[in-house]
Amino acid sequence: MRILVTGVTGQVGGALVRRLQPLGTLIPISEIALDFTKLSAIAESLDQLAPDLVINPAAYTAVDKAEDEPDLAMRINAEAPGVLARWAMRHDVPLIHFSTDYVYDGRGERPWHENDEARPLSVYGSTKLAGENEIRRSGCCFLIVRTCWLYAAQGKNFLRTILRLAQERKELRIVSDQVGAPTSAALVADAIAGMIANGLDCLRDRSAQANGLVHVAASGETTWHGFACAIVDGLKSRGVPLVIEDVIPIRTDEYPTRAKRPHNSRLDLTRLQTVFGISPQYWQAELESELDKVADEIVSMQSYYPQNASFADHLFRQPHVVVADHNQPCRPRTGHVAVK
Ligand SMILES: NC(=O)c1ccc[n+]([C@@H]2O[C@H](COP(=O)([O-])OP(=O)(O)OC[C@H]3O[C@@H](n4cnc5c(N)ncnc54)[C@H](OP(=O)(O)O)[C@@H]3O)[C@@H](O)[C@H]2O)c1
Repeated sequence: MRILVTGVTGQVGGALVRRLQPLGTLIPISEIALDFTKLSAIAESLDQLAPDLVINPAAYTAVDKAEDEPDLAMRINAEAPGVLARWAMRHDVPLIHFSTDYVYDGRGERPWHENDEARPLSVYGSTKLAGENEIRRSGCCFLIVRTCWLYAAQGKNFLRTILRLAQERKELRIVSDQVGAPTSAALVADAIAGMIANGLDCLRDRSAQANGLVHVAASGETTWHGFACAIVDGLKSRGVPLVIEDVIPIRTDEYPTRAKRPHNSRLDLTRLQTVFGISPQYWQAELESELDKVADEIVSMQSYYPQNASFADHLFRQPHVVVADHNQPCRPRTGHVAVK
């Protein structure tokens, strides 16, 4: 089975490449090889690569920036997946595509079910929903995976932002009235591996049973503030040197962002369990294993670099970490961390 994975420099794309190796011949595709803004080149590239399965985690994921670049976000998140899906339809190739909790408006307290109406609050959410609709219209065999609050030991994400800030600042103010399940990219990759492990016919059957849509997230729930506290506690217990003393809960309206975010991002996982037989771990267990990876990285860098050099300097010179310019107001990409 030739498995094409897009967006391999991203969190989920990278995790998929690592996890799916034993299941087939992987075709890892980065933005350089397949640029979603160049719509007319996509089908020809797919013809040449001839995959049996297309998995598409590539996306425009800069939630706040999307408010100022709606056309670009629409091209990458909706039009390009539409091209992928129409190619998949013509070649009878199944497509697994990723979407988001940001298609929901976040009202209420109960977990969202896949059959609930999607009413995005942001440009990002609207473009992701438009992408889902393009795929549905194509008539191909598809599975749309809505996930939420993604993070990994590597990459640009909430965990890495908290690690960096906890090494720089004594106090952090974190949004505490948005609820969801922090979900590691590794958990998502495990779930996808489980979905395709029994072959493409089984994937087709189950995707049809799921009506082409399924939630994948860690079990349990917390707030961004709860997640930040768990990260800081976990780093401290692993001996990572931090200066942070206080993690203060704030309301969303105390930290206005360009894009509106849902207050309730709880995702119902019943369909994942009943149709695909997958019961995800609780978010705390996943976090422990990602923190182990972060701590291992820190320990190995500490032993590698000379003692008189600042460890943080070395860490943040890595390409996957965004270094804040201390003369500029720091706005982490995650949009839930208020930094004065
Ligand atoms: N992050 C979250 O919290 C979250 C939550 C719910 C759902 N999702 C969805 O889950 C999926 C995976 O998210 P993620 O966190 O893994 O995303 P990510 O880390 O931001 O990675 C996105 C990937 O898309 C690629 N990409 C961006 N523009 C592209 C273009 N013009 N052409 C081709 N590739 C392009 C990026 O390449 P470069 O590295 O070259 O930019 C990167 O490899 C996405 O569909 C996202 O919408 C994410």
